[in-house]
Amino acid sequence: MTSILLTGGAGYIGSHTYISLLEAGYTPVILDNFANSHPAVLERLQAITGRPAVCERGDVLDTPWVEEVLRRHRIGGVVHFAGDKAVGESVAKPLKYYRNNLGGAVSLMQAMENAGCGTLVFSSSATVYGDPQSVPIAEDAARSHTNPYGHTKLVIEDMLAAQRVAQPDWKVAVLRYFNPVGAHPSGLIGEDPSGIPNNLMPFITQVALGQRPHLQVFGSDYPTPDGTGVRDYIHVCDLAEGHVAALKVLLESGRSLSVNLGTGQGHSVLEVVRAFEAASSRPVPFQLVPRRPGDVANVYADPRLAQELLGWRATRTLAQMCADAWRWQSRNPTGYRTA
Ligand code: WQD
Repeated sequence: MTSILLTGGAGYIGSHTYISLLEAGYTPVILDNFANSHPAVLERLQAITGRPAVCERGDVLDTPWVEEVLRRHRIGGVVHFAGDKAVGESVAKPLKYYRNNLGGAVSLMQAMENAGCGTLVFSSSATVYGDPQSVPIAEDAARSHTNPYGHTKLVIEDMLAAQRVAQPDWKVAVLRYFNPVGAHPSGLIGEDPSGIPNNLMPFITQVALGQRPHLQVFGSDYPTPDGTGVRDYIHVCDLAEGHVAALKVLLESGRSLSVNLGTGQGHSVLEVVRAFEAASSRPVPFQLVPRRPGDVANVYADPRLAQELLGWRATRTLAQMCADAWRWQSRNPTGYRTA
């Protein structure tokens, strides 16, 4: 079956996609420099799948090496996860983001062109919609950026469009993630942020574990039902299955596409807190504090185009997202780092 290269495949979304690809009969190959991930995930993947995870350790910026990997493994398609993704850090260190994210994408695309591989799934983000004019957000909504991280996603989407003009035989799927949360039901792999978590769910799980005293709820004066921010949380396993569905369309129909990967349902911060307390039977103390700069009130997807083009939709509930996130965190208090 077709070999698929996962750049950044040892990361949160990549490792879950690795499992879904195997389950669908593909042969996934991980390419990772472990800058934002941990080698221990490879053993966890073997424990889940029953087979050694094939991993090439190196940097996607090393174009000749990436080309050699593509040729040696006879790669038929690539899923590009590798890159930096912390919004706040991107504001403080824009050059790191432009170099790693834009430079990495150019390097990968050049290696693919040299090796004669023209099938690419790109890990994009709802952040390309900036502060949306209206919700739910459809794929034809205006794109903008409010930070260098989001800017790199937007520019890479445009680079892919230009490459498709230059190389009409390229097949590209741009997947715009909303808010990935949760973990594989085994509890063996999950989200493992380094330092203080930026994102809501890992912060909640660390509060529930007693590692942090309380959650700060950023803003309770938004124009939303309970005043707190609303987002479209999607289970990481649903997201992984969406990647497999997109790859299948590229390989079998040859058409390119850009779709949202979201549930189409928004949940507020306080709704997530309550759902997590119910799922974990753990209290999540919180304080209402002022808004976080750069946050918007209400972001959730119109999921119809993905369902139409990919025959895919998210099925897992917020309760399942919380239960699976808690199982991972409670069984791995220090993530992949051994205590
Ligand atoms: C969700 C909600 C916060 C933390 C970001 C990136 C996006 C994507 C997903 C990469 C908001 C609130 C959060 C906390 C809080 N990342 N919150 N207390 O900002 O929607 O999206 O992560 O692709 O590109 O922009 O996600 O989890 O940070 O915040 O109240 O300690 O939770 O205000 O309403 P966000 P988030």
